[in-house]
Amino acid sequence: MSSTRQGPSIERQIHSVTPWLVVSAMLLMSISTASGQQKPPPPPPPPQQPPKQPPQATPQFGDPVAGLTGQQLAAFNAGKGEFTDRETPADGLGPIFNRDSCVACHSGPAVGGSSNITATRFGRVSGSTFDPLTSLGGSLLQEKAISPEGLEKIPAQANVTALRQTTALFGMGLIEAIPDATILKGVRTKAVDGVLGRAAMVQDVASGKTMVGRFGWKAQQATLLAFAGDAYVNEMGITNRLFPTENAPNGNLDLLKKLDKVKDPEDPVNPATGKAGIDALADYMRMLAPPPTQSTTASTVFGAKFFLDCGCTSCHTPSMTTGGSPITALNNVTVSLYSDLLLHDMGSLGDGIVQGAANAHEMKTPPLWGVRASAPYLHDGRAKTLDNAIQAHDGEAKSSRDKYLKLSSDQQKLLVEFLNSL
Ligand code: HEC
Ligand code: HEC
Repeated sequence: MSSTRQGPSIERQIHSVTPWLVVSAMLLMSISTASGQQKPPPPPPPPQQPPKQPPQATPQFGDPVAGLTGQQLAAFNAGKGEFTDRETPADGLGPIFNRDSCVACHSGPAVGGSSNITATRFGRVSGSTFDPLTSLGGSLLQEKAISPEGLEKIPAQANVTALRQTTALFGMGLIEAIPDATILKGVRTKAVDGVLGRAAMVQDVASGKTMVGRFGWKAQQATLLAFAGDAYVNEMGITNRLFPTENAPNGNLDLLKKLDKVKDPEDPVNPATGKAGIDALADYMRMLAPPPTQSTTASTVFGAKFFLDCGCTSCHTPSMTTGGSPITALNNVTVSLYSDLLLHDMGSLGDGIVQGAANAHEMKTPPLWGVRASAPYLHDGRAKTLDNAIQAHDGEAKSSRDKYLKLSSDQQKLLVEFLNSL
């Protein structure tokens, strides 16, 4: 899919179309001369390629991936129920939290999407060391509490704060199904045009295995189950089997004891399904379809060429292929994500927070599919337009950004039009 938007394959298309036209024209001529008045035989049927899936309408934002079994669809819908469910203090919400449901932040343009809601991280940098100020409630700030006395403040000791914008979750199951080995192929040990790229090796709390982190702005989690557990406790204050410990308001354990009335873990197994909330959330995210692409136009074809010429694809890799998955719809699928899922030193654009395997200046290349529906842009939402976002690239992306700046404004517009089609 993505390759049809690249310069070289566009040329290939032109070359492959022309001889075909010539051959069919010759074929028609030979039929009419050889058979005189006779009706020409019916044209041969077009070459058949066995369809991978029965033809179906392209899933839209928020839909499940095509080709799920009835059982899988039921799991998707049950998970969507958890995702949209508003928790109350009696369910275990808080004592400190950011919102009372996943969908409160992941909402646009459909359930599972993004929003301009940000989360705040803080810490203390001294020299080359970063202290996440864990004992003072860091590095994530919870901005709400079930009782006013629990409200957190950014402690005076913090000298770095960073906002993180809510990302969209469309297609996350396909990203999860990309084998580590595929991502590791993109790692460079010698810079090409200033670009390196490092895999975020993290310990997956769900499996205990060391894996390539790929979720979050810092590639801090490797699996959707781990992210679900992390988000449940850190955004909503729902303790679960992977994250059984409540966050204490600015680290104050006495206050936690006073405010925390529900026994941990607060995410029990549903006897009807045998699944806990985090398992249902992971099911839902795993089967959420990737963003629908817009149709290719002359402008997007030119824009794709400028995207390639500027070296954007050295980080925003157009596509990767998933490995084996027990969910057939995710099995061996080409994923047009426009990311290498690697960490890059972004220089001044880095957020100053050390998290997972990422250092202060490293950020994960965000996928660009569906970017048209996730304004504002960049990790803290500082960029109102895609042009602003590109201009803010720094560090390893400096040479690529400079190439973009050298394009004419019409060429830049075409490149942005291409981004808006992904
Ligand atoms: C307060 C708003 C908020 C709430 C509530 C919230 N999220 Fe998020 N979510 C975010 C932000 C902000 C990010 C980016 C975090 C980062 O990388 O630091 C994010 C990122 C994610 C990602 C990583 C996606 C990617 O782009 O790699 C997943 C998965 C996720 N959230 C799942 C959930 C689930 C499941 C819930 C409910 C249990 C939830 N979130 C609740 C704000 C929220
Ligand atoms: C060295 C790797 C690298 C190169 C080269 C690069 N990018 Fe990026 N891109 C990133 C990273 C990392 C981010 C996230 C930075 C942040 O938010 O702090 C990003 C963010 C973006 C975003 C914002 C996405 C969002 O969801 O907010 C857009 C748009 C974008 N890049 C387009 C481009 C274009 C166009 C080019 C070529 C001119 C390019 N990038 C070149 C690594 C790169």
